[in-house]
Amino acid sequence: MSAAVPAFAVISGGQVAQALRGRERQITELVEATYQLHCAGDSVNPPSYFLQFPDRPNARIIALPASIGGSIRVDGLKWVSSFPDNVANGIPRASAVLILNDHDTGYPLACLESSIISATRTAALAASAAGWLSRGRPRPARVGFFGTGLIARYIHTFLAGNGWTFDEIGVHDLSADSMAGFRGYLEGSGATGEITCYDRAEDLISASDLVVFATIAGQPHVTEPSWFKHNPVVLHVSLRDLAPEILLESVNLVDDVEHCLKANTSPHLVEQVTGSREFLAGTLGDVMAGRVSVPADRTVVFSPFGLGVLDLAVGKHVYDEVTRAGDLNVVDDFFHELRRYG
Ligand SMILES: NC(=O)c1ccc[n+]([C@@H]2O[C@H](COP(=O)([O-])OP(=O)(O)OC[C@H]3O[C@@H](n4cnc5c(N)ncnc54)[C@H](O)[C@@H]3O)[C@@H](O)[C@H]2O)c1
Repeated sequence: MSAAVPAFAVISGGQVAQALRGRERQITELVEATYQLHCAGDSVNPPSYFLQFPDRPNARIIALPASIGGSIRVDGLKWVSSFPDNVANGIPRASAVLILNDHDTGYPLACLESSIISATRTAALAASAAGWLSRGRPRPARVGFFGTGLIARYIHTFLAGNGWTFDEIGVHDLSADSMAGFRGYLEGSGATGEITCYDRAEDLISASDLVVFATIAGQPHVTEPSWFKHNPVVLHVSLRDLAPEILLESVNLVDDVEHCLKANTSPHLVEQVTGSREFLAGTLGDVMAGRVSVPADRTVVFSPFGLGVLDLAVGKHVYDEVTRAGDLNVVDDFFHELRRYG
């Protein structure tokens, strides 16, 4: 009986980074294919569960359980913390683990460091969306990063890794340290394009054909629709920056309707204000399948809630790579009580 119990492994952030480094194109294809599998219904992805604390109101830990079919066939859970005060103390805001469960026995196979996996799947879907939403218009040559932390860095890396080049890269953040840090990253990455730091949000948006929101704002702080009159493509990854007035004047796409219209995201606020979901054009999956077309003469806002199935797919890829390399660190005797009657 115990022979069927899989080994349990722990995969460190170093191993995750090594398995993913330089593979932006391949991972974007994997994430896109997994997202399409989800859109086709070959997944189970219940609502994320938010654990919040009366004594630490800006912090949260989110559980994302999920199951993916297709050739990946794995179940699991991402457990991701967001403690924004960490940044002032010199450590990243988010930390996470991913548990992969064996399809046949349900046994946990591995625990992976997952802040890298989470940032990777977020950036991969954002890069994919940038491509799909720019079809039919000139490819954006001016990108603006609104909020310049770790997620912004990953999104830039994934855009560049997928062949995007820019004439201009705009940067805006409330923190001068973040702007300087991101600028340093851009310069070190060999990014093409002139880098400009904008003190005013309006100037960054006006100067960008592709705008990436990656702040930690809890409620809308960008409220002026006229800032978007040049009809940019907007990757609204941080979900709560844009006021309903802006979404109501834009073409709105989400990754998953039921997931995204929750937790006071900007699309959720629009639903509360209007009492309807008519403001939504559809999902990115609808665009990929040709069910929704994206006009070139409107602002397009993509608000991705972030799906646990994407973490699973990237996590399973890392697990398979580490296994293939013979580097799996198995914890011997992890499952110890294996005889029913001792
Ligand atoms: N949708 C998804 O799938 C997904 C996945 C992962 C992370 N995220 C979100 O991405 C965001 C960024 O994450 P991160 O790890 O890069 O955080 P981070 O703390 O490393 O960086 C956030 C940056 O935003 C800046 N900022 C905060 N409020 C701002 C404002 N009003 N205007 C301009 N700048 C502002 C901060 O100074 C900081 O530099 C978070 O909101 C996180 O929840 C979304």
